[in-house]
Amino acid sequence: MMDKRESDDGDTLKDQNTKRRALFRAGISEVGKPENTSWRNLGSHEPVISGQSDPWGGFGTCLVPTNTPDGATEPRGRDGTRSPRVLTPRERGTPGRASSMKRSRVNEIIREGDAFIRSFGFVLPPFAYWSPEELRDKRPLIGGIVGARLGWDITDYGQGRFDELGLFLFTVRNGSEADLKRGGGMCYAEKIMISRQDQISPMHRHIVKAEDIINRGGGVLALKLFNSDAEGNIDHETDVEVATDGLVRRQKAGDVLRLNPGESVTLMPGDWHAFWGEGGDVLIGEVSTVNNDLTDNIFAEPIGRFSEIEEDEPPLHLLVSDYPTWFA
Ligand SMILES: [Fe+2]
Repeated sequence: MMDKRESDDGDTLKDQNTKRRALFRAGISEVGKPENTSWRNLGSHEPVISGQSDPWGGFGTCLVPTNTPDGATEPRGRDGTRSPRVLTPRERGTPGRASSMKRSRVNEIIREGDAFIRSFGFVLPPFAYWSPEELRDKRPLIGGIVGARLGWDITDYGQGRFDELGLFLFTVRNGSEADLKRGGGMCYAEKIMISRQDQISPMHRHIVKAEDIINRGGGVLALKLFNSDAEGNIDHETDVEVATDGLVRRQKAGDVLRLNPGESVTLMPGDWHAFWGEGGDVLIGEVSTVNNDLTDNIFAEPIGRFSEIEEDEPPLHLLVSDYPTWFA
């Protein structure tokens, strides 16, 4: 007689075993265990935050923005429902857990990040060092900065645990979506980023953006990769093929691609990816098609793209997420 015992969420044992096999393939031992909040390393040294139900997106629901840049119809979630849009950190919340970053911590991360970037001989453009007041004074002249959302972008994905789940970014240049649609002009963007050792940038894909992720120096950059299935969700079955500096590499779903300094990978729209530094902090370059962080990031887990800031001291420099408030 078939065992039809069901779990709390209605899964049969067969369903549960299917999930476990998928998790095993994904390198995750079990669906999130909220009571376990410590780091642990799997055999291949993959950082895991077990307090996050699944930072790799093993069974996350895809969040779908209401308006895609090209107006395309986006796939529905696994349960057939359409998520209305990416939740803001405040809406998403995490009961019993802080979900904001203090401005003093953001300022500290900016100082540390700038020093790290300079240690490689890379220098940010002048507007990076303008004070908030200087930016505001120059507002009539800097539509190209504000409109393209160039500048500092420190994010903990709204989780309040930057050292474990976060990313330092600075958008150096960003083209025009109108140019991208018409197929000519400024269709490109560039970011410089820092992934700290074992600091996860969570599993996500892009709708429009293709991006080259480049290890510019420091530690090893590790990326966990999956294809999308027909609905745009994570495909735990099919092999992944990616171009790495002109060389096509093929690996199993969920395997980790490791890039040494100087190496890069080209990720196309729909390629699911999460990444982190191994053996040290990593300076990362991103060269991509036009970037829109308000609409083009689909996360596997219900997290935000930007941090919620607690203002405990004045900002050293504005973040791109401050622009709507400062330049309203
Ligand atoms: Fe990405």
